[in-house]
Amino acid sequence: MSDLSAFAESIWIVDGPTVRDMGVMFTARMTVVKLCNGSLWVNSPVPVGSATLERIIELGPVGYLVAATPRHVWRLAAWHKLFPEAQVWAARPTPFTLENGKLPFTGILGDLAPEGWADNLDQLAFKGNPLIEEVVFFHKRSRTVILDDLIQVHPILEGRPFRNVLIRLGGIACPHGGVGLDIRLSFIRRNLARQSLRKLLSWDFDRLVIAHGPCIEKNAKAFVEQAFRWLAR
Ligand SMILES: [Fe+2]
Repeated sequence: MSDLSAFAESIWIVDGPTVRDMGVMFTARMTVVKLCNGSLWVNSPVPVGSATLERIIELGPVGYLVAATPRHVWRLAAWHKLFPEAQVWAARPTPFTLENGKLPFTGILGDLAPEGWADNLDQLAFKGNPLIEEVVFFHKRSRTVILDDLIQVHPILEGRPFRNVLIRLGGIACPHGGVGLDIRLSFIRRNLARQSLRKLLSWDFDRLVIAHGPCIEKNAKAFVEQAFRWLAR
């Protein structure tokens, strides 16, 4: 489990332990943003050690706990116990939502950023998929897009031929990764998805945080365009 790493101005990331989902083992990444008002916005929190937790607390009070995709809602419960005063926000519930008990949600994430972080982050609910309506964020000051599952980049591992075949067939293998085949196939309302993609690409960003795979430190818009080229067709 790695430590808190600075990624961009007012943005830190932490890589969590290995998890298993859809038959594939991988790590997940959380994102911490320090807002202009001093409080912390935490997306897709992962289990962290006490030293990392102390470093996060030193950055500022945790004001917001966010699950930007239905697949990450289960991650909020442990952090809500640590920070019960923090607002809890999640993506729109779908049959694909992974929960871990009931939480006192402040609201459901949509296309409009809540007042608490609107000065710092823009957001959009990526539409067109009835199973996963992931919410994507744009941190204005650092020109960073924060995205969880829509684009993934998984390494090819020695001695894991079956897993590697799944990764390659899914279109999410290193070095380029992409939008997984399962997610691509479930975008049944392509026109809505194209509208969301246009809004995402209208943001003036250069960096990209993803939850599964290496983050992109420059030319991230070209990377996102490449990952969604199947949608443009
Ligand atoms: Fe995920």
